[in-house]
Amino acid sequence: MKPILKAEDLQVAFGGVIAADRVNLTVLADEVLAIVGSNGSGKTTFVNVCTGYIKPRRGEVYFGNTALSRLHPRAITRLGIARAFQIPQLFAEHTVLENLLLAAAARRGFWRPFSAISRPCYLEEAREALGLLGLEGCASQRAAQLSEGTRKLVDIAMALALRPRLLFMDEPTSGVSSDEAIVIMEAVMGALARAGITTVFVEHDMEMVRRYAHRVAVWESGRVVAQGQPHGILHDSQIRESIAGMA
Ligand SMILES: Nc1ncnc2c1ncn2[C@@H]1O[C@H](COP(=O)(O)OP(=O)(O)O)[C@@H](O)[C@H]1O
Ligand SMILES: [Mg+2]
Repeated sequence: MKPILKAEDLQVAFGGVIAADRVNLTVLADEVLAIVGSNGSGKTTFVNVCTGYIKPRRGEVYFGNTALSRLHPRAITRLGIARAFQIPQLFAEHTVLENLLLAAAARRGFWRPFSAISRPCYLEEAREALGLLGLEGCASQRAAQLSEGTRKLVDIAMALALRPRLLFMDEPTSGVSSDEAIVIMEAVMGALARAGITTVFVEHDMEMVRRYAHRVAVWESGRVVAQGQPHGILHDSQIRESIAGMA
């Protein structure tokens, strides 16, 4: 498989805390890569650098030949990298469909009042994203009325409405019950596979990693300390110990 994203020698520090310590990692086209590691090991920082929310002190991230580190998050989105958030970023007083329309419009750098975004092309993208995740039935519900699990799905649908080539998800099922988590992950991973979207997800539940990841990268103190296939990684006792501190 060909590389789709390459992080080279990334360094991020917050005061005295080194959150990325010379991180090198390649994401391959069409793979599902899981990022695991204890709390505070730098997983979210990596996602933030790749999506433009944090500028590294050193190093670079390449998406194809394009260097991302100086780009604004919206510019990175337009290149084809989307992100779902640990806490869904929805407009609570608007309907699910309106939230999706905004996301579809944002792909073209178009941020205007809701009245201006109900164009047929956006509507088609929004409905397609809802359909991929089986959310057609809640299109007209207000985001505030949704269950936490459904809010997560809508947040991911918003990322899909951007028609990305690469999607980052930071703990997509944190805060939902384990029963609901399985349902969400089945829906999401099925949709991503059908849409052919390369996926990087931060995950603390090793059962999810085992089920869905093609490859795993292990973070410890701002470093990638191991990577490989889930079977080998999750059976290594030293690695298990390193990630055991996870909530
Ligand atoms: N905005 C920030 N300001 C200060 N410190 C931060 C900030 N973001 C992260 N950190 C610190 O950087 C380290 C890595 O954090 P993070 O990437 O969120 O870890 P993880 O997602 O693996 O739990 C932690 O020590 C955390 O406290
Ligand atoms: Mg985190």
